[in-house]
Amino acid sequence: MSTSDLDTLKHAAAAKAVEFVKDGMVLGLGTGSTAKHLIMALGEKVKAGMNLSGVSTSQETAMLARQCGIALIDAETCWTIDVAFDGADQVDPAFNLIKGGGGALLKEKIVAASAMKFVVMIDFTKRVPVLGGAFPLPVEVVPFGWRNTARKIEELTRSRVVLREREGARFQTESGNLIVDVHLARIDRPDELETALHRIPGVVEAGLFVGRTDVLIVGTPDRTEIHHVKRG
Ligand code: A5P
Repeated sequence: MSTSDLDTLKHAAAAKAVEFVKDGMVLGLGTGSTAKHLIMALGEKVKAGMNLSGVSTSQETAMLARQCGIALIDAETCWTIDVAFDGADQVDPAFNLIKGGGGALLKEKIVAASAMKFVVMIDFTKRVPVLGGAFPLPVEVVPFGWRNTARKIEELTRSRVVLREREGARFQTESGNLIVDVHLARIDRPDELETALHRIPGVVEAGLFVGRTDVLIVGTPDRTEIHHVKRG
C-alpha cells in the first residue's frame, strides 16, 4: 500500500475519532500525521460553533491547533482532559503501544495519563502480533551521561541501542533531551520492560504505552474498526 493510501486510512480513523468529541471538552492533542488529520477535523467542529480547548503534545501540533481555532491550555495549569487523541507506531493484541517515532513521547505520555479517555487512531499496518521487530523502541534520555545510560539499556535489553539523529545532528526533544532507539527483536513483556527501563538513572521516559488505550480506531481498506478496550 502506498503512503498516500495509508494516509487515507489514517484520515478515516481520525474522522471516526472526532465522534467522541462533545461541546466544551478539553482534549489532549497528539503528534504525528494521524493526529494532524484529527486536529483539522476538530477545526471543522470549531468552525461549526463548537467550543473546544486542548493540551498540545508538541510545538508542531500547537501551531496547527492555533490555525484551526482550538484554544490551547497553558502547560503550567493543572488540566483535566476529557479525551486525549493520538496515533501510534505499533499496537499489540493487548492494545499496548510503541510511540515516539516523531520524538514527542514524553509529552504524549503525560497527556495520555492525564486524560479520562485515551483514543488511539492508526492505519491497519500498525497492528502487530508482538511489539518490537521492525520498529525500534524510542527511549528519551537526559544528555548528561547518555552514553552510560545507553550502555545500561543495552545491558538490560541485550539489543542494539542507537542515538537518534536528524540531518546529521543529534535529535533533541522539546524538553532538551536525547532519544535512543532500541532495536529489540520482540517485546514479550512490555510492562516489565517499561518498569525496568524506568529504574535506569538517566531514562526520562520510554515509548511503551502499557494498559493506557481505552479506544483503538483502525483504518482498514474495507472499513474503520472501533475497539473498546476492557480493563481486567
Ligand atoms: C510522535 O512522537 C509519535 O508517537 C506518533 O504519534 C506516532 O509516531 C504515530 O505517527 P503517525 O500518526 O505519523 O503514524
